[in-house]
Amino acid sequence: MRLKDCHNFSDFRKLAEKKLPSPIFHYIDGAADDEITYKRNTSAFDDVDLVPNVLRGVENIDLSTTIFGKKLDLPFYCSPTALQRLFHYDGERAVGKAAQKFNTMFGVSALATVSVEEISSMIDTPKMFQFYFHKDRGLNDSCLERAKAANFDVMALTVDTITGGNRERDLRTGFTSPPKLTLSSLFSFATRPMWGINYLTKGKFELPHLQDFVKEGTSTNSSIGNYFSTMLDQSMNWNDAEKLCSKWGGHFALKGIMSVEDAKKAVDIGCTGIMVSNHGGRQLDGSRSPFDQLAEIVDAVGDKIDVICEGGFQRGTHMLKALSIGAKACAGGRLYLYALAAAGQAGVERALGQYKTELMRDMKLMGCTKISELNRNNLRFRNL
Ligand code: LAC
Repeated sequence: MRLKDCHNFSDFRKLAEKKLPSPIFHYIDGAADDEITYKRNTSAFDDVDLVPNVLRGVENIDLSTTIFGKKLDLPFYCSPTALQRLFHYDGERAVGKAAQKFNTMFGVSALATVSVEEISSMIDTPKMFQFYFHKDRGLNDSCLERAKAANFDVMALTVDTITGGNRERDLRTGFTSPPKLTLSSLFSFATRPMWGINYLTKGKFELPHLQDFVKEGTSTNSSIGNYFSTMLDQSMNWNDAEKLCSKWGGHFALKGIMSVEDAKKAVDIGCTGIMVSNHGGRQLDGSRSPFDQLAEIVDAVGDKIDVICEGGFQRGTHMLKALSIGAKACAGGRLYLYALAAAGQAGVERALGQYKTELMRDMKLMGCTKISELNRNNLRFRNL
């Protein structure tokens, strides 16, 4: 199987599985507990049907949307995800350049393997920095200042990782960052020699936003669950979020909002956007899917801030459904991560291009030429 054989999300996933040592593949592919929420994030789209209109003159399609005051050519973007150099040696460089090519937003994680300064010197399209509220206030200040100095357009505070999710696949494979060779993982690393050669020869693995603050540098192997549970400040509250928002002084979003109550509070503290998200099902299993929760949140705050639906998207039609409900944009991590693992920048470009092609075709078939023409009249919920 090669890149040219990848025609959809599940093809990229298959190729990624062939390229990655299994602990790394399962870190991307896995989620919390029984992975019910992870599956639901996508199956939720199947409970709603599209009702197209015809004879509307659809030769020119405009897929652009504006979020956080920035016009994107696509109504979807690359959510921030951690540790991208483990998935492909070009890591964030590959994703950033691909996002730039399509003029869409690139989210950079606090746990990125390339620095905000380098990303900023590389791409001039809209950028979001994802922020974790660490116990170490020096580390928090440093992240904020560096992202500001690097001209990032949006700060997104993740609010759904207050403790580590129970990711049983990671427990089984022993996944850590940086990866650790254990007796049980030896075989999977040995069967992916190209990954190993690239990992060892294409530059040192680093977490540039953390390394001056984490005692042992960032070379000590830690599971992500352990990182969240020990490094992040579990006392984080609305007051802290409000202070961060005003300290940042620009577009500020909360990533991981699921209730109407919290969406309204986000407006009150000065946020200009929220990501309706359950962290790709990786945190609280059994929580509702972002798509199922979208309508009530859009109804409550959609006229005041940008509501972004994050997670579960595998098809252009999934995005059409969320945009019809009233999301300003769609976002996802696995959306491009399997493609990154499959073929680096070329893989991400191919994946983004395929979603774009699907959206163009599906908009025509729906009888819509602009994203703003999508609305709830075009949807019917099945009686379950
Ligand atoms: C995860 C984090 C790092 O879900 O966002 O693994």
